[in-house]
Amino acid sequence: MFENIDKDKLPKHVAIIMDGNGRWAKLRGLPRIYGHREGAKAVERTIRIAKNIGIKYLTVFAFSTENWQRPKEEVEAIMSLLVEYINTKVPELIKENIKLRFMGRKENLPEMILETMKEGEEKTKNCDSMDFIVAINYSGKAEIIDAVNKIITSGKPDITEEDFKNFLYLPDVPEPDLLIRTSGEQRISNFMLWQLAYTELYFTPVLWPDFDEEEFLKAIYDYQSRERRFGKVVS
Ligand code: IPE
Ligand code: IPE
Ligand code: MG
Repeated sequence: MFENIDKDKLPKHVAIIMDGNGRWAKLRGLPRIYGHREGAKAVERTIRIAKNIGIKYLTVFAFSTENWQRPKEEVEAIMSLLVEYINTKVPELIKENIKLRFMGRKENLPEMILETMKEGEEKTKNCDSMDFIVAINYSGKAEIIDAVNKIITSGKPDITEEDFKNFLYLPDVPEPDLLIRTSGEQRISNFMLWQLAYTELYFTPVLWPDFDEEEFLKAIYDYQSRERRFGKVVS
């Protein structure tokens, strides 16, 4: 199945806005949390495929700062699911040599999830086949504001684009080459605003729990068919 992939044109960093869990559940007459549970299985599949394809950085949007406005039961269920998911997946990530990382604001996150995150990062810190980055309590605008405040504190009188990057949450991570958003919504929803400046965008109507190898490969092929110009003229 992977033989049609052009190894010389692989996206190094794929970012995903995993959307449509709620609608997936609703279609089946189930509470929304069932959709999130099924979505967790899609994350597992996606990690495996990304690693097999040879992607170096996979980032997933798991919980936005705006998602706190959802009903309390849903927020609590998502937080518990995240803790459970991270705890059970860390041994597999170690086995697969995948480094687990997080981005987002630490403030407001329950202690139990902060501890789980720290432990997961610590246990996988020497893994180097792929970085798996989970955005939790993340907002692109907040990331930029946090960077600006760090710059003010540092006392720098002025700043270049190159410097600015170094104040973002994960300065060593290259900007995403490909952004996938599932569920048919065609918006960025405050995700990686700085880093997406030249990212190729791919939208699919498939709901996140249904995202599988075939869908992932479709996105990769589509990406490989595009010409990235970065404002230049390509001869
Ligand atoms: C994405 O699915 C998961 C999170 C935002 C946590 P949604 O929960 O947004 O699903 P829909 O968009 O309501 O279908
Ligand atoms: C974006 O999805 C956030 C995550 C996937 C975590 P939402 O479902 O929250 O976005 P909107 O509300 O449709 O823009
Ligand atoms: Mg949604």
